Amino acid sequence: MFPYKEALVTGASRGLGKAFANALLAQGVTVWGTSRDGQRLPVGVQPLSLDLSSPESLTACIAQLRENAPEIDLIINNAGGGVFCPFSIFPAESLDSQWQTLLAAPISLCREFYPLFARRCHGAIVNVTSLAGTFPIPCMSAYSAAKAGLGAFTRTLMLEAAGTGVAVIDLQPGDYATDFNASLNQPEHNASPWSKRVWQCCEEHVKNAPSAEHAARKLLRALQHQRSRVLITGSFFQATLGPLMARLLPEWAVRWYLRQYYT
Ligand SMILES: NC(=O)c1ccc[n+]([C@@H]2O[C@H](COP(=O)([O-])OP(=O)(O)OC[C@H]3O[C@@H](n4cnc5c(N)ncnc54)[C@H](OP(=O)(O)O)[C@@H]3O)[C@@H](O)[C@H]2O)c1
Repeated sequence: MFPYKEALVTGASRGLGKAFANALLAQGVTVWGTSRDGQRLPVGVQPLSLDLSSPESLTACIAQLRENAPEIDLIINNAGGGVFCPFSIFPAESLDSQWQTLLAAPISLCREFYPLFARRCHGAIVNVTSLAGTFPIPCMSAYSAAKAGLGAFTRTLMLEAAGTGVAVIDLQPGDYATDFNASLNQPEHNASPWSKRVWQCCEEHVKNAPSAEHAARKLLRALQHQRSRVLITGSFFQATLGPLMARLLPEWAVRWYLRQYYT
């Protein structure tokens, strides 16, 4: 039997979040799903409006969950998007919204629900970070930084959650075939030959990437074990060989490889 009864999946309108929501529904879990437009959510999901870049929207969403989802025992902090732009011309106003969306808001949701789960000695928190936290992507500096920060937070929470009955998972996806690239915010004056080359690499990754359902199967299997862990998912190269290489090689060699790869 699936160990959790009621879940929140942020960003459930498409991509990985939609696949997580559908997989949980198939297990008989009650799923609350968020989107900036509460209408776009899959059938069967309890809809919530949430714009993570707005602290007011987050407060309203938490209030709704407190009132309507008393048995919630699983949080999947999935929603996210990025800005693709060399740092030298990165729009200053986008920095705050990246931290808020990718780091501050997911941590606030953990702050809301982790103490409740710990008191009940039951529950799970999944923070969707990224392999970009380990293998940074040029032109995505704020995104990579926010994901690395969320990963560090998640692994800290794992230490604190040991023995409480709460499972904490740092889900680090490699590339998946979703609308993620299409929805990246790209400032118009961003077209240097090098950033075009980096963009081409990102597009090629997505063409050959596994489907979102692959990530959902991996995550559900991990949740069945009710144990904290870092879960790296994606193609064999990204999820297995890449991390192995990063463990065995010195840091400068990994950086050299990435620089060659994106040039
Ligand atoms: N796909 C990949 O290759 C990949 C790799 C590593 C990590 N990830 C991470 O996986 C997560 C899901 O990405 P995806 O690939 O499924 O992307 P996606 O297809 O673009 O879906 C993104 C989801 O997040 C929601 N969202 C975006 N910005 C939001 C905001 N400011 N406030 C609230 N919701 C917001 C969107 O909902 P609405 O537009 O309906 O509001 C949508 O449901 C993200 O955290 C991403 O960083 C993805």
